[in-house]
Amino acid sequence: MLQSPFKSLLVKGKSLLPIVQGGMGVGVSAHRLAGSVAGLGGVGTISSVDLRRHHPDLMAETGKSRNKELIDKANLVALDREIAAAKALAQGSGMLAVNIMRAVEQYAAYVKQACESGIEAVVVGAGLPLDLPELTAEHPKVALIPILSDVRGIALILKKWMRKNRLPDAIVIENPKYAAGHLGMARLEDADQPQYAFPAVLEGTRELFKELGIERERIPLITAGGVNTHEQVRELFSMGADAVQLGTAFAVTEEGDAHINFKKVLAEARPEDIVTFMSVAGLPARGVRTPWLANYLDKEAKLQRKAGPKQCTVGFDCLHQCGLRDGIAKSGQFCIDTQLAFALEGDVKRGLFFRGSEKLPFGSEIRPVKELVEYLLTGVRSIAGAVKAPAAPGMVPA
Ligand SMILES: Cc1cc2nc3c(=O)[nH]c(=O)nc-3n(C[C@H](O)[C@H](O)[C@H](O)COP(=O)(O)O)c2cc1C
Ligand code: SF4
Repeated sequence: MLQSPFKSLLVKGKSLLPIVQGGMGVGVSAHRLAGSVAGLGGVGTISSVDLRRHHPDLMAETGKSRNKELIDKANLVALDREIAAAKALAQGSGMLAVNIMRAVEQYAAYVKQACESGIEAVVVGAGLPLDLPELTAEHPKVALIPILSDVRGIALILKKWMRKNRLPDAIVIENPKYAAGHLGMARLEDADQPQYAFPAVLEGTRELFKELGIERERIPLITAGGVNTHEQVRELFSMGADAVQLGTAFAVTEEGDAHINFKKVLAEARPEDIVTFMSVAGLPARGVRTPWLANYLDKEAKLQRKAGPKQCTVGFDCLHQCGLRDGIAKSGQFCIDTQLAFALEGDVKRGLFFRGSEKLPFGSEIRPVKELVEYLLTGVRSIAGAVKAPAAPGMVPA
């Protein structure tokens, strides 16, 4: 376990390093990344979505199948295996969490499976998890952690959960101006709105806790999005954050579960390569303008004009509401599962690569998780073990 100059993060009575590795799908944060972060004493998060892709036997059964039931079952088996493997790596250190997106059709099944497989925390983003307390009622030791972006969303969850006698065990505050993947705002043009700035959300949330009479509960606040220096970590803690969550910087570590090309695309992206666009899930998202995304964005307006209900492209029906399948013109018009799976495999031309907007702590270098966590905690950038990644095929080096 690493030493930290900062106050520990306390969740469900566990004393943790105040560094959280955010959940990243499809397959980007599986057992290796999450188990490595937890092994150091931080919070490691497995993304629950479509984990069968890490298991050749499950892919042999379902890779070409259009049988939703079979695919869903394989994913629950994969989630159980990934949790067991992450636990073996972490050896009881830190905390292991599973990230489950509210927008995913199998949300409730993933929550139940994660609890039954012995996960310590369930983290839910991409929608409001109003029903999470009921879903986890039989597992009171599991920490419940919603991801929200502004005080309004936090108030909604708190008020609803308080009526059920439950409080979050921590709250992730994710700033849509900087974060990767799906963003907690309704419209693309809202990222700069002042209600998402960390100082405003931290202060507003503390005030809200007072108003609701729960300030004594000391619910930890975890800021996420664009965190890339030790100085910034210090500043966020001095503003009242209890921990920081990073996504992109962990995705590109040696232990990150995606293909090396995936890491290179993220690490080598230049600021002008990073774009926001509408996802099929009906939320804005941020990623790297790779050949597929550039081509899709060129055609987006035309595809949206032609949008109409159709069958799920792959029979998986992964989302509750899918812009492509359900013909929702204002949403994205591509199959997110297919594109994210290409990215996981390192297919630079066809993949969708989610990424945050900011520079990374080690530039384009791929480093071990330990060096990243040490740097965030101490400001010391280890020079040992640095691996300079050669340019990914099809991308211009930064
Ligand atoms: C490749 C990638 C995939 C992600 N997938 C998810 C996801 O499935 N669910 C989720 O809640 N957040 C997801 N995120 C967001 C991260 O968990 C994290 O909160 C965010 O990236 C923080 O911003 P940063 O990348 O600037 O550190 C993803 C991020 C990346 C880079
Ligand atoms: S078409 Fe839509 S619902 Fe079907 S797998 Fe693709 S993203 Fe999921």
